[in-house]
Amino acid sequence: MKWICRIGMLALLLAGVASAEVTSITLPEPGNHLRPGAGAGLTGQYCAICHSTDYIEIQPPFRRDQWFGIVDKMRKAFGCPLPAADVDQVVDYLTHTYGTGR
Ligand code: HEC
Repeated sequence: MKWICRIGMLALLLAGVASAEVTSITLPEPGNHLRPGAGAGLTGQYCAICHSTDYIEIQPPFRRDQWFGIVDKMRKAFGCPLPAADVDQVVDYLTHTYGTGR
């Protein structure tokens, strides 16, 4: 039983350390390179976790299905935590702002 307690304590401790770090470091505003528009905030929030938004901005103007394919790959292959319910908004934003518009 004792070791279960210890693991619990350790987890709490680690969670505490992790949350303390999250509140104490200053990250650059993730969305601030993205052009404004509906969905820019969401895109900045979820698409700058692993790489800079430059990855988005240097792409050729993709069609909607191509942007969808990229977002889908980021979620399913790489583990981007963008909720399924928000995919459309991000794909629409990418298509209108960095794509062909349709
Ligand atoms: C969990 C990490 C992660 C997140 C979050 C993430 N990406 Fe990526 N992304 C990657 C990796 C890894 C690569 C490089 C892999 C490759 O070369 O295919 C990449 C590459 C890209 C590329 C370059 C082209 C390509 O297909 O490789 C684009 C565009 C891109 N990401 C867009 C996005 C968008 C849009 C989002 C938000 C929906 C996003 N990423 C979120 C990991 C992530």
